[in-house]
Amino acid sequence: MNPVLAELHEKARAVLDPVHYDFFAGGAGDEVVLAENEAAFRRLALLPRVLRGEENGPEFPVLISPTAFHKLAHPDGELATARAAGTVLVSSMASTVPIADVVAAATGPVWFQLYLQPDPEVTEELIRRAERAGCAALVVTVDSPVFGRHRRDLAHGFHDLPAGLAAENMRDLPGTPGLRRIEMAPFTWADIDRVRDLTSLPVWLKGVLHPDDAVLAVEHGVAGIFVSNHGGRQLDVVPAALDALPAVVDAVGGRIPVVLDGGVRSGADIALALALGASAAGIGRPVLWGLAADGEAGVRKVLDALRDEFEHVLALCGGQLSRDMVVVRC
Ligand code: FNR
Repeated sequence: MNPVLAELHEKARAVLDPVHYDFFAGGAGDEVVLAENEAAFRRLALLPRVLRGEENGPEFPVLISPTAFHKLAHPDGELATARAAGTVLVSSMASTVPIADVVAAATGPVWFQLYLQPDPEVTEELIRRAERAGCAALVVTVDSPVFGRHRRDLAHGFHDLPAGLAAENMRDLPGTPGLRRIEMAPFTWADIDRVRDLTSLPVWLKGVLHPDDAVLAVEHGVAGIFVSNHGGRQLDVVPAALDALPAVVDAVGGRIPVVLDGGVRSGADIALALALGASAAGIGRPVLWGLAADGEAGVRKVLDALRDEFEHVLALCGGQLSRDMVVVRC
């Protein structure tokens, strides 16, 4: 793990209310997948290429994956994250700052993460809010037909935000004055088609693991996909996100970009994801640790440390990352 990230994680653990720390840190079930997401990177190695002079590698290929409730980490919440971002920020529908304010504060493009809601009018209004705010894409999270079971939260009895905090995008939606709860429900590809018909924004899917679903995503005109297991917070029997990546990349065959999230904690992790065919890596918890430890400056430290380390790894790899360079450790 990058040492800056490790230090910020320790600081976050020390300053956060333990209930909120566990909400951020925890996973579903026995937390097998949570641990595997990080362990999968340790099982792989890179064979660098040599004598290639100075090759231009990819731009800093990191985006901020959507995580809920940033005001639990820091009073400035998503505003601090947005100010520090400087890269794509995928803002959670469950943000504690309204999406318009997140976009106004952002130093890079903002994409809106959406959970489709059972009432189509509510889903449509959320999409309109994202459009009016100036979001550049929609990211529909499809791995959550029901809520994951987080034993740490159940043990603490944590199910609601403290008084004064709310999922601000859920205010005053059709049919519900005041706050509306985010609901999970099973949806179909026809619902994705409907979203695409409703908006001219690019529509990404987040939470695809099966290569056949990746093919369907391409066929349904999706702009890109996140190979993600929700940071180990949904089904605790799936592969590590990194292990699911190559088959999805092969199925997509370069037709749309594939982002990998889950367990990315260093420049080398980013390099491995790219070598296996990801266009970019998404980071979830490290941003929360930076935010809790040091607000906007902490998020910036996370991104700067990853950028610096990734560039160093890339230089040592000869400026190039490809799948033939990835080997399994003995
Ligand atoms: C998440 N994640 C998530 N995903 C999503 O689509 N909408 C959301 O609101 C949230 N909320 C959320 C809260 C917290 C506390 C965590 C840790 C995660 C999942 C997130 O986008 C991403 O997939 C993982 O966090 C990536 O794994 P790492 O980087 O945390 O290991």
